[in-house]
Amino acid sequence: MRPRPPAETAVPRGFAPDARPQPIGADRPAHRAALATEMRAAAGAIGEVLAGQRLPEALQRHMAALPPASRAPARDMAYQALRNKARVTALTSLLNGRAPDRMVLALQWVALAQLLEPMRAQAIVVDQAVAAARATFPAAAGFLNATLRRFLREEAALLTAIEADPVVRYEHPKWWLDELARAYPSSWQAIVAAAHRQAPLVLRVNRRRTDREACAARLALAGIQTRVAGPDALVLDKALAVEAIPGFEQGEWSVQDAGAQLAAHLLDVQDGQRVLDACAAPGGKTCHLLERADIDLLSLDVDEKRCQRIESNIDRLGLPMPGSRGAVRVLAGDAATPATWWDGIAFDRILLDAPCTASGIVRRHPDIRWLRRRGDIATLSQQQSRLLTALWPLLKPGGKLLFSTCSVFPGEGAEVIDRFVQQTPTAQRESINWTWPDGRREAISQLLPCTSPDREHDGFFYALLSKGQ
Ligand SMILES: C[S@@+](CC[C@H](N)C(=O)[O-])C[C@H]1O[C@@H](n2cnc3c(N)ncnc32)[C@H](O)[C@@H]1O
Repeated sequence: MRPRPPAETAVPRGFAPDARPQPIGADRPAHRAALATEMRAAAGAIGEVLAGQRLPEALQRHMAALPPASRAPARDMAYQALRNKARVTALTSLLNGRAPDRMVLALQWVALAQLLEPMRAQAIVVDQAVAAARATFPAAAGFLNATLRRFLREEAALLTAIEADPVVRYEHPKWWLDELARAYPSSWQAIVAAAHRQAPLVLRVNRRRTDREACAARLALAGIQTRVAGPDALVLDKALAVEAIPGFEQGEWSVQDAGAQLAAHLLDVQDGQRVLDACAAPGGKTCHLLERADIDLLSLDVDEKRCQRIESNIDRLGLPMPGSRGAVRVLAGDAATPATWWDGIAFDRILLDAPCTASGIVRRHPDIRWLRRRGDIATLSQQQSRLLTALWPLLKPGGKLLFSTCSVFPGEGAEVIDRFVQQTPTAQRESINWTWPDGRREAISQLLPCTSPDREHDGFFYALLSKGQ
């Protein structure tokens, strides 16, 4: 069992940093809801996930009713429950005589995930979970109290019993662990461990409005410390709600992982070029491209609703800047059938940020690994090949296409590119060299999720192809 400080001195997640454990209903900062209310909101979102919904959308619905200062802690609790999904599922099957109502189960998940954290004030977590149950489903309060207290009494034995199963120990589906172990025999455990850590908040500074140093200085004045993670990237030392960081509404920055930010640099766009972003929504890379050069950009996505998100990001960031020679057109269309939307004029640059399993970003989206099926890798790999084949004729001779996925499975990276290059005489794979913030220069292709003081990014695959004359 992990060592645990005595309950009287531990500070539960979700309390202000300087708060001490308090009895139920004791004073909390006026701008924060009670922990029980935050737990109830987190459980509401988890309940929807249990019914098959995606976590980000479920969170949006349940966070809105909370005071702003309670949203981040409630969101953290929901994420924590999903990061520990296998563990809490195994625990509840040992603790519960029969399956409780879905929403009661969701609250039990949230509470157990908090109790699994080494620094939690256990008595407060249990009291507040029971208070949350009393307010919503009073008949279940006794059940919740009994099962959570039993967990506390028998924690060591219960954890030993469930952690024999690798799915529980590593918190990933068995097929996923097998795929990782096959591709990365010596480093798969590190990839899995990275998925279990909370990802930091990374900003992409809009160099059309400010620069990285000025943005960092402005944030520092507001008490927000950052460090450099790329030419336009700043990592926040402590995650904050976006609304609490100055400059968002003014379009000075966006939230984007530092690994995702590589795309706009690697595509090497120059003023005046005609560029296609073929799978563009919600527009992170489209906007970064427009921030970096005065290009004529077609931003395409098959999903019409998601195209609206590209538009709103472009609007917020004020792109292209008035007076710039850049232009952008957002279009809903299927990249696999260019005949339905292409005007016949070839592109200098194409970005194909293809749909994938998102296996490289599970630390940000802990639900992904449980929603995916093994067969998705092959299905998506074929889709990626189809898109690549359909878009290649749209590239000018001498032009460059950057293929990317936020996946760590070779079936959605190297294997797609090797197949394509073998079958396409005009395609040549260029090596990509990248200088990291610590000054080290390296060839990159498959990035694995990484959190260290000098390197911080999700898992991505990048391949740059140039077209022979
Ligand atoms: C990984 S996301 C792209 C993220 C985006 N590049 C960004 O940086 O914000 C993949 C996108 O591909 C889109 N997509 C999937 N199939 C497509 C197709 N056949 N044609 C165009 N877009 C497609 C999805 O709707 C989704 O928005």
